[in-house]
Amino acid sequence: MTITGSGSATPDQFLSNNDLALMVDTSDEWIKARTGIGKRHLASSSVSLSQLSAQAASKALEMSGLAPNDLDLILLATSSPDDLFGSACQVQSLIGASRAVAFDLTAACSGFVFALVTAAQYIRTGSYRNVLVIGADILSRWVDWNDRGTCILFGDGAGAIVCQATETGDRLLGFEMCSDGSQNSSLNLGYQGLEKSLNTKAEITQGNYQFITMNGREVYRFAVAKVPEVIEKALYHAGLSAADLDWLLLHQANQRIIDAVADRLKITSEKVISNVAEYGNTSAASIPIALDEAIRQRKVKDGDIIATSGFGAGLSWGSAIIQWGK
Ligand code: UT7
Repeated sequence: MTITGSGSATPDQFLSNNDLALMVDTSDEWIKARTGIGKRHLASSSVSLSQLSAQAASKALEMSGLAPNDLDLILLATSSPDDLFGSACQVQSLIGASRAVAFDLTAACSGFVFALVTAAQYIRTGSYRNVLVIGADILSRWVDWNDRGTCILFGDGAGAIVCQATETGDRLLGFEMCSDGSQNSSLNLGYQGLEKSLNTKAEITQGNYQFITMNGREVYRFAVAKVPEVIEKALYHAGLSAADLDWLLLHQANQRIIDAVADRLKITSEKVISNVAEYGNTSAASIPIALDEAIRQRKVKDGDIIATSGFGAGLSWGSAIIQWGK
């Protein structure tokens, strides 16, 4: 498989650190020093996850030169669909990809990497030739805006890539995916329901999803320990080492995590792609948004090798080593 197009979309409105400091007990200095984040773009009530995803998807299709009807499969990685039954079919309809089958994939901030690897399996088996992979999240709808431990981190957005079958060398060079449910409580967006008796024999619950809860220090420790390890494993499968990489592109959670991982892998800062200052943590969208920006700025060039890594709730983490260019 090869990646032939990328696109991204983020809401226009944003909240600066100084705006946040008027809402909770925090400061621009603290947020910048501890996370590297300067602002986060937020979706208003008129913006849906499906719309943001469709915008990113249309740009990726345009770059790839494919028409919507050429698509065989659409994978939407998200933890914040417009509809709990999934939003991928809605995206399919918005972009007019009537021939494609579409479904959602939920793996929080690892979602884009997991979906990219899933796309590659369908392409490698010969089942599908043209696959659209989208990472999109609107976590502002699930953040407790009174909790300074989480509300400073998250922003909204969508990113997409087009993966195609190729006869000239597979550009997913290696991958590794992991999960550990025993640490699930470190980062949750859980359902909570009230008990309700339907009759004397049947009792159910009804309720809602609650706000995001997170043990920041635990997730930080987990990321710094596991991300270098999973990248090394993916590199091993690719027959490469960190010295062969042109770019390191991690899930944009925290600049300190990005720096610590780069440090462990002995990758210099010029090779690190980061836009966390502009968007904060956009969950499944963060890797494809940063990839799209780097491609459009012509930082990433034909033949460049990029180590991507997603990590977060589950807990889940993974890495895909990709080579850009047709
Ligand atoms: O997609 C994956 C999603 N999650 C992550 O990647 C999160 C990973 N974790 C982190 O990025 C960091 O743990 C945070 C940025 C969330 C927190 O940074 P930290 O350096 O781990 O801070 P901390 O939680 O150890 O807190 C240090 C101090 C505490 O005060 P005391 O107990 O030392 O007096 C906190 O109460 O900073 C305080 N604090 C804040 N102060 C100002 C926590 N949040 C804030 C805040 N503004 N927003």
